[in-house]
Amino acid sequence: MDEPEAIDAAVAALARGELVAMPTETVYGLAADAANGEAVARIYAAKGRPRFNPLIAHVADFAGAEALVHFDVLSRQIAEAFWPGPLTLVLPRREGAAVSDLVTAGLDTLAIRIPAHPVAHSLLAAFGGPLAAPSANRSGHVSATTAAHVAADLGDAVSVVLDAGPSAVGVESTILKVEGDEIYLLRAGGVPREAIEALTGRAVHVAALGEGQAPTSPGQLLSHYAPGAAVRLDAGDVRPGEGLLAFGQDLPPGSDKAAVIINLSPRGDLVEAAARLFSALRELDGKAETIAVMPIPATGLGEAIADRLKRAAAPRAT
Ligand code: TXA
Ligand code: MG
Repeated sequence: MDEPEAIDAAVAALARGELVAMPTETVYGLAADAANGEAVARIYAAKGRPRFNPLIAHVADFAGAEALVHFDVLSRQIAEAFWPGPLTLVLPRREGAAVSDLVTAGLDTLAIRIPAHPVAHSLLAAFGGPLAAPSANRSGHVSATTAAHVAADLGDAVSVVLDAGPSAVGVESTILKVEGDEIYLLRAGGVPREAIEALTGRAVHVAALGEGQAPTSPGQLLSHYAPGAAVRLDAGDVRPGEGLLAFGQDLPPGSDKAAVIINLSPRGDLVEAAARLFSALRELDGKAETIAVMPIPATGLGEAIADRLKRAAAPRAT
């Protein structure tokens, strides 16, 4: 199918309340008409989400965002700098905003973003309203960064898959919430914390679970983004039969005994490593029972990489 035809088919499916796999620059999204509660409920069913976690509303442009939420000065400054792009802002929802309560899970705030991917933009512009879209993976699994990942996880639940090749950023959007003069990081992601601090001249606080007034995000659930294999972080060696998730040129002792090695970035580039992370975890998963992960610097995009790996290594929720 040509792209315009594929977009038409996707818009028609969305209008019928069906689900569409939407490529974004971060990861593939499982999109539904955000104003249609039944369609949004299908997202939860398809993902097997155990409960109603709030979803991100995706819009084509600022006018689309203004129709749904109220901006404070600091949030607007951040949005103007990083949209379209891998950034989500949690903002007070406008009264009467055309979004089902299932999207916000009953909260009075809405998470919103303008993605930078041209296919996502075409879809949003053609649809003409907000699309609710979590990552297009089964709940708790690693996010999908290719159309094949979407098909493997969700199969028939998706009416149209817009295949635009591998996601460029590879980790989900950075989620921020501004409260007064304070900026809280709800999820590390595609926009590095340092870039937000440089723009605003303010510290970005990590909103740790249970910390005072700090807002929380279910993406902070500890076991999340989990492959089936066990994950051993900061591995200084490789034990026989383990899969090795490598970074940089100096492989640790025992690497010759690894069942399989995937190097996220032989040249030690964190942007390249983020783009490959979820594909690598999926690939290693089928090939070893334990994945040994080399130390990876936690600066820039490394903060999001470290966050996803920590969750992948956490004891599994049953
Ligand atoms: O890059 C991304 O953000 C991808 C693409 C598809 O846009 N989407 C994504 O969605 O990662 P999802 O549903 O997997 O993660 C959304 C996160 C969840 O952790 C959810 O708890 C949080 O956003 N969230 C949504 N609405 C919120 C709200 N009102 N307040 C706090 N957290 C919220
Ligand atoms: Mg997700």
